[in-house]
Amino acid sequence: MLDLFADTPPWQEPLAPGAIILRRRALADAESLMAGIEQVIGQSPLRQMVTPGGYTMSVAMSNCGEVGWTTDRRGYLYSPIDPQTGARWPAMPAAFLILAQRCASEAGYDRFCPDACLINRYAPGTKLSLHQDKDEQELAAPIVSVSLGLPAIFQFGGLSRGDPLQRLLLEHGDVVVWGGASRLFYHGIQPLKEGYHPLTGGFRFNLTFRQTGLAAQ
Ligand code: SIN
Ligand code: FE2
Repeated sequence: MLDLFADTPPWQEPLAPGAIILRRRALADAESLMAGIEQVIGQSPLRQMVTPGGYTMSVAMSNCGEVGWTTDRRGYLYSPIDPQTGARWPAMPAAFLILAQRCASEAGYDRFCPDACLINRYAPGTKLSLHQDKDEQELAAPIVSVSLGLPAIFQFGGLSRGDPLQRLLLEHGDVVVWGGASRLFYHGIQPLKEGYHPLTGGFRFNLTFRQTGLAAQ
């Protein structure tokens, strides 16, 4: 018999040991996630950070949660304070936390307690160079990454910068979870193509949830 539900979202695609793509998993939550983004960036605006090497990142970023990831000429760090406003980063909206925990658990990571969520906004032409997420103390916890709006090509490599890259199209509502053996795998985003999305206009947003273990107890 024809399986009418084979292509019904969400569906799962294995990516690497410890890593999985939950296709369209955030689709039903996209509008509340977008409302959460608007609320957060109303308090802690998106900004282009400068790396320790003096390079201005093309992706615009903000954070919510107990701590937020920042970079400046002194280095990369997680801080409870947004250096631009001098106030704490906005709290993580409930819809963010619930989705991130469900996705982690579906990927096999129970008890995921993200204390940081980095918000990335990509305009056409912007990219995120190949890097590892390694500023967290809690490397046993996975990374949960949610894509909204315009599609982008995600590169996923291995433990060494020179390892072969998989290139995967991430579309609106896709969630990638990586942890365990692939927690420190190199990854990046190729330059975004022009486009229009009904929810995000000319942009792609990405939410990256981390359990840093760096929030004050
Ligand atoms: C990141 O690596 O922080 C973001 C990846 C993405 O935008 O999908
Ligand atoms: Fe990353």
